[in-house]
Amino acid sequence: MAAERAIGDNDSMNSEITLEETILTREEMARLLNEDLAGEYQAVIAYIVYSQVIKGAAYTAIAKELRVHAAEEMEHALKIAQQVDYFGGMPTVTPKSVKTSNDAKQMLRFDLENERITIANYRERIKQAEAMGEFALSETLREIILQEQEHEIDLCNALGINLNDDFLS
Ligand SMILES: [Fe+2]
Ligand SMILES: [Fe+2]
Repeated sequence: MAAERAIGDNDSMNSEITLEETILTREEMARLLNEDLAGEYQAVIAYIVYSQVIKGAAYTAIAKELRVHAAEEMEHALKIAQQVDYFGGMPTVTPKSVKTSNDAKQMLRFDLENERITIANYRERIKQAEAMGEFALSETLREIILQEQEHEIDLCNALGINLNDDFLS
């Protein structure tokens, strides 16, 4: 956790070195949230496309699930865009790149890989938000990360792997 900092001694929230971590400026937080937003756009696009092209009886259930994920990722994008604006940034219009494949399993692996990156990023972002005293942001991110973890579980189940397995190895 951040070391103590006197309230009111720095209204502009400029970064200041504490014993354990640097508190982000609002500008830095806006930039990081914009990277998160680009990842949410990526997720929306991937889930829309994959939900339509994944074929085969074995994948009927997960294809339906991916449609649900697409809608949830759009809600995440809206919430993150709102936070970028709150922190004084302009929400990005550019998604992170989306990988494609003709193989159903490969598409699910891409999704799982992205969810795991997203979860790691939001864990970091929640800590950074709390260090700034930005509890509304932290609360919003906690709601989002809960759904990202559900997405991760759905994908693991569809791939028949354990939650903690490193499927890349
Ligand atoms: Fe998301
Ligand atoms: Fe997700």
